[in-house]
Amino acid sequence: MRHLMNPMDLSIEELDDLMKVANDIEKNPSKYAHACDGKKLATLFYEPSTRTRLSHEAAMLNLGGSVLGFSEASSSSATKGESVSDTMRTISCYADICAMRHPKEGAPMVASIHSSIPVINAGDGGHQHPTQTLTDLLTIHTLKGRLDNMTIGLCGDLKFGRTVHSLIQSLTRYHGIKFVLISPEELRLPSYIRKDVIEENNIPYEEVITLEDALPELDILYMTRVQKERFFNEDDYLKMKDFYVLNKEKLKLAKDDMYVLHPLPRVNEISVDVDDDPRAAYFKQMQYGVYIRMALILFLLDIHVE
Ligand code: CP
Repeated sequence: MRHLMNPMDLSIEELDDLMKVANDIEKNPSKYAHACDGKKLATLFYEPSTRTRLSHEAAMLNLGGSVLGFSEASSSSATKGESVSDTMRTISCYADICAMRHPKEGAPMVASIHSSIPVINAGDGGHQHPTQTLTDLLTIHTLKGRLDNMTIGLCGDLKFGRTVHSLIQSLTRYHGIKFVLISPEELRLPSYIRKDVIEENNIPYEEVITLEDALPELDILYMTRVQKERFFNEDDYLKMKDFYVLNKEKLKLAKDDMYVLHPLPRVNEISVDVDDDPRAAYFKQMQYGVYIRMALILFLLDIHVE
C-alpha cells in the first residue's frame, strides 16, 4: 500500500505515468467514468480549503466513486480530544482512500502510520502540499511541453508557502532548472529548503526583492499569497500582504511565452486585469488539479484503465 506525503515519494517515472493518465483523462473522460465504482474517498480537512477538498471529491465522483468526510475540525470528534491516529483507524473502516489536510506539520504522516488505506497529504502546516505540486507540474508540462531547461520565478511568501517548498523539491530532479526567489527579507525561503534542497543539488538560484527586475528572464512565474494564518501577529501580516501586486502593466516586462501560475486562493497579489491575458494560467491550473487527482486516486488504489 502506498501513501502520498511528499511529492518525492513518487519516482520520476511514476510522475510521468500520472501525467500521461491525467492528459488521457482530459481527452477521454468517459473512459474513466466507472473506474472507481463502489469505492469511497474520505476527505478529512482540519483546516479550510476550497480547491483541494472539492477537487479530490470531484475527482472521485468523476471516477464513479463516492465521498464522505468533514470540512472542519469543529464538526469532528477532534473537538472532544480524539487523536489523529484514532480518527484514522476509524476512517479506515469506512473508506478505501483518504485525503487529509491539517495545520500541524506531519499530522498526515502520523495518520498514515495508523491507516489501513492509502492516505494523501492534502497540505500539512507550512510543510508540504504534494497534490498541489502534481497539479503545478502537470500544468507546466502541458503548457510548456517540458519540465526541464526553465527559469522559474517564485514570488511572495516563500517562508510559509508549503506549495513553494514542495514544488522546488520536485523541480530539482529536472535538468537545466534555475530558480529566482522573489520575496521580501522577512518571507525568504527557509534555509532547510535553500541549503538542503537547492544548494545541495547544485541548482543555480538568485534571491531578489523586486519582481520587475526578475520578470524578463522567467519562463514560469509562480505567484503566492502571504499566508495570513501562519503569522503570529496581525501587524506583521499587514506590512507584508500587498508587497507584490502583479498587474497588466508589469506583465509587459515578461516574455510572450511565460506563464503565470498561482496555487490560489489569491488575495491582492494578482490584479484581476491579468486574468484575461493568455499567459494567466492559474484557472487552467485548477482544472488540471482534478485530472491529476483522478490519476493519483487510480494509482494509489492500483486501478488500471485500459
Ligand atoms: N491551492 C489550495 O490548496 O487551495 P485551497 O486552500 O482552496 O485548497
